[in-house]
Amino acid sequence: MSNPLKVVIVGGGHRSLIYAELSEIKPDMMQIVGIVDPNEFRRNSIAERFSIPEENKFTSVEDFVARDKFADAVINGTMDHIHVETSLPILKAGYDILLEKPFAVNEAEMRELVSCANEYNRKIMVCFVLRYAPFYRRIKETLLTGVIGDIVNIQTVEHVSYHHMSTSHIRGKWRNEEECHASMLLAKCCHDIDIMMWLMGDDAPAKVSSFGGLMQFRKENAPENAGTRCLVDCPLVDTCLYSAKRIYLDHPDRWSFYVWDKLEDKTNTTLADKREFLKTSPYGFCAYKCDNNVVDHQSLNVQFRSGATGTHNMIGGTAIPQRKIHIIGTKGEIFGTLESGIFTVSLIDPRPGCEHKDTEVNVKVTDDSHGGGDLLLTEDFVNYVRDDILSVSCTSINESVKGHLTVFKADESMKNDGKVMEIIL
Ligand SMILES: NC(=O)c1ccc[n+]([C@@H]2O[C@H](COP(=O)([O-])OP(=O)(O)OC[C@H]3O[C@@H](n4cnc5c(N)ncnc54)[C@H](O)[C@@H]3O)[C@@H](O)[C@H]2O)c1
Repeated sequence: MSNPLKVVIVGGGHRSLIYAELSEIKPDMMQIVGIVDPNEFRRNSIAERFSIPEENKFTSVEDFVARDKFADAVINGTMDHIHVETSLPILKAGYDILLEKPFAVNEAEMRELVSCANEYNRKIMVCFVLRYAPFYRRIKETLLTGVIGDIVNIQTVEHVSYHHMSTSHIRGKWRNEEECHASMLLAKCCHDIDIMMWLMGDDAPAKVSSFGGLMQFRKENAPENAGTRCLVDCPLVDTCLYSAKRIYLDHPDRWSFYVWDKLEDKTNTTLADKREFLKTSPYGFCAYKCDNNVVDHQSLNVQFRSGATGTHNMIGGTAIPQRKIHIIGTKGEIFGTLESGIFTVSLIDPRPGCEHKDTEVNVKVTDDSHGGGDLLLTEDFVNYVRDDILSVSCTSINESVKGHLTVFKADESMKNDGKVMEIIL
């Protein structure tokens, strides 16, 4: 490709930079030409990294769209609750968007964004990176061959490890629904529900019910004598399973990039700086005495229009981070674990001496938390915007509605004691 897609980053955080890396790996596909971020350090460091001229650095979307259009598309990696308010003016200014998930935090704003994109004839691709993970992609391709027949039931499971739970959903950015405006299911499992919808193909969800709650990470469950801050007043700092010292200081790689990003403007940060920081940061609070209110476990039950059923179980605070899937069809089944990169296809085999015929598929990708999907997704976005090519994984906004709506209705059900909710697309 000789003419790279010109892209402006809106919200220069962790996620945007992962997608922007494509411009460094394949500069003939993508070029980063602008940055919008109110954070001065991030704005300047991103401008320097991608050689963005001074006139293409903006502190707000309003300032950016006030300029004549100078790029093809935007990577919108802002936080969940401002995806819609930042995307609407960008669409109206004529840009296509690679938009982080969840693309909206409630049904009303979801519908507003979808109709705006359709009215202005703009493309939005939602960052459902798991669709690009080789593990799920091979499962999708296997299903498309029809080998297991018609799907009768699909089961997805997400175990959120104790350190991921601690960093994101007890002490971190997605801990309190009033602040982040996203439920646990929306922030964490909209991926799994999207995978369920994608694998179910043309079938659509008709009804959902859900139960869940915050069971573990509550004040009454704090260990005896626990303080309020691990590194200030807690005698259990070296023994508690959720000690901030043990998770963030004693180990270098327990989602700690979320913890240390407040120190990113400092050079040569020492262990002593980090220790001091934890004394005042939310990441240093006792995990049982925070202001978290998102659930730590939730189960949902979906009925599809065909009569097929689906379940999803999210459990937070597990020893092992794990995503599992089991799909049962009329001729056989598929089951596997994302982190292993391996799934098994088992087909009914009534021949004498046989019961079922098993084939193991190893996609040989285990070293990326999204199974290798992040850059494949960005390449797909370029192909979608430039050449209108929709791959089997492509997550256009219209394609993403079924999953988001199922999540919104499941949360409504959970708040109403498991009441069955209709899903009207
Ligand atoms: N696809 C995935 O698998 C995945 C994984 C993790 C997070 N996410 C999602 O990615 C998004 C970003 O998460 P992150 O951790 O990268 O966030 P982040 O906090 O690191 O980055 C957000 C950036 O947006 C900037 N910002 C704030 N207000 C802005 C505004 N009005 N206009 C422009 N920029 C603004 C902030 O200064 C910050 O630099 C979230 O929606 C999150 O849920 C997706």
